Amino acid sequence: MTPPLLLGVNIDHVATLRNVRGTLYPSPLKAAQLAEDSGADGITVHLREDRRHIRDEDVIALRQSITTHLNLEMANTPEMVAFALKVKPDYVTLVPERREELTTEGGLDVVRYQTALQPSVTALQAAGIPVSLFIESNPAQVAATASLGAKIVEFHTGRYCDQHMAGENTQAELDRLFLAAHQACALGLVVNAGHGLTCENIGPILTLPGLNELNIGHSLISDALFVGLGGAIGRMKQAMTYP
Ligand code: PXP
Repeated sequence: MTPPLLLGVNIDHVATLRNVRGTLYPSPLKAAQLAEDSGADGITVHLREDRRHIRDEDVIALRQSITTHLNLEMANTPEMVAFALKVKPDYVTLVPERREELTTEGGLDVVRYQTALQPSVTALQAAGIPVSLFIESNPAQVAATASLGAKIVEFHTGRYCDQHMAGENTQAELDRLFLAAHQACALGLVVNAGHGLTCENIGPILTLPGLNELNIGHSLISDALFVGLGGAIGRMKQAMTYP
């Protein structure tokens, strides 16, 4: 029997809303608890270098309180690696980061930055924290991820989602994602995916080989304005059961 597909709920934008007014609300911690009560299988946060949404103290508080798993997204910097080794999330996702970007715009270039990534992947995994690399669906990037010894890969679904939103043909991008997931499975990597996913575009992504977890944030927090966070997560879990 295939294991159930997991939903990692990214709560960054709860913190975005809090920070924009300098208030103590809405609380990411409260959002994480509600997400878990509503069916989230994990909580994902991105601790950015500029701390524009999630802050160090949020991650520490989440680590102490959540009952599912904590996925910490971060850039590959000595500061972030030291923080992760201290806080011990259930896994770390290494992402590229540029200060001026609105969101994580592309995948990590594992081929190019292999030498810089290797010590971080080794140190985190030696401390019992599996590492996921957030990459584009490209065969060379998948091979480099496996050769670094990372346990998990997360495929960037942003291009597919943009094409879907624009009403363009998504087949070539879906084929690329499918082939990359197949390759990752064959190399023994756990396969995750995320970025830009909504209840409306998620269908074809559910058929990716070996898919373990989807990390979804922006559309869930947006839907929560209209149907509440529990309602938004319920709708997404429902959408995830219909490939
Ligand atoms: N996965 C990764 C690695 C990300 O950086 C993000 C965005 O923070 C997501 C998934 C979630 O993307 P979205 O907010 O568009 O659902």
